[in-house]
Amino acid sequence: MKVNVLEEKIRLASQKIMEGELVIFPTETVYGLGANALNPIAVEKIFKLKERPHFNPLIVHIASLEQLKDLTTEFDNPQVLHLAKSFWPGPLTLVVEKTENIPDIVTGGLPTVAIRMPDNPIALSLIEKSGKPIAAPSANKFGQLSPTRVEQVYEQFPGFENIIDGGETKVGIESTIIKIEKKGCKLLRPGVITREELGKVITVLDEKVEKILAPGMIKSHYSPKKPIFLLSKVDLEKVKDYKIGFIGLSKSNYSHFEKEIYPPKENDLKDYATILFSSIFELEKDKNVDIIVVEDVVEEGIGIAIMDRMKKAAYQYEEKLNKFYNI
Ligand code: TXA
Ligand code: MG
Repeated sequence: MKVNVLEEKIRLASQKIMEGELVIFPTETVYGLGANALNPIAVEKIFKLKERPHFNPLIVHIASLEQLKDLTTEFDNPQVLHLAKSFWPGPLTLVVEKTENIPDIVTGGLPTVAIRMPDNPIALSLIEKSGKPIAAPSANKFGQLSPTRVEQVYEQFPGFENIIDGGETKVGIESTIIKIEKKGCKLLRPGVITREELGKVITVLDEKVEKILAPGMIKSHYSPKKPIFLLSKVDLEKVKDYKIGFIGLSKSNYSHFEKEIYPPKENDLKDYATILFSSIFELEKDKNVDIIVVEDVVEEGIGIAIMDRMKKAAYQYEEKLNKFYNI
């Protein structure tokens, strides 16, 4: 897209935000479905369009540290500032104590709010031009995969017009979410910013997260419509009469795949994360593919986030696997 055309699109979209309308825009992780975070009527439209339950709170996106003051009482918490300086703009979401400015609908009535500064020039410009913090979940229907390209957005929201096309998102899976506590932080959702990287900046407390309503943490949250299985769980010989679409970290020796997708750099976990959702979407649409098989990775570093998304995608099909054997 020509620069001035894009700028005009962002300007129009920022007006929509100011008018209380919704806009779908790219971030570095996945596409977001945004509204003015301070306008509860606008935010309600997100829940309606996504068919998302109200207990599932949203992430508020900002473009500058000054915006923190309006949103959280912890704007001057040294831990928050240190994390912000280290990882923002970037795929890290901080759950902190909220101010009264934030409508309950954004936080599902919780006393905390999730905030991040996305590392995407279109997203940052949209937030700046609208002059508002933007509440945005991933731009998919509830329970579906997060989109990494506008084509996937069009499919989920046909007829929706306020979409800014920013090409393929570079990270490909949703942000790491941490909750800030007095003695450190708790990891609520794994992402490409790993526990080890966080550990250099803040104490990462032990897992045992108290009951936090984060449906991103539900077992079967990210779920494609075509059967999908982890390579480690499936006996390929028993499903070889199906047309199999394979997503692998590195080239497979198995010769029966109908279609194979690999990251640009084989064995690169970052690249694997980037292509994961878009590859699943691609195979889901491919009429020559009956079932999808994804290659597991070691659960270390970014591998933890990748396996988290893969297990959720495969969860509902795993118990039905026997039905696919020996046809
Ligand atoms: O990369 C991302 O994070 C993308 C882009 C668009 O920014 N957004 C995203 O939003 O993945 P969403 O709504 O799909 O996931 C947000 C997660 C949910 O699991 C929600 O429960 C959690 O953030 N969350 C939001 N506010 C919270 C809070 N106050 N406490 C605990 N979890 C919270
Ligand atoms: Mg989501």
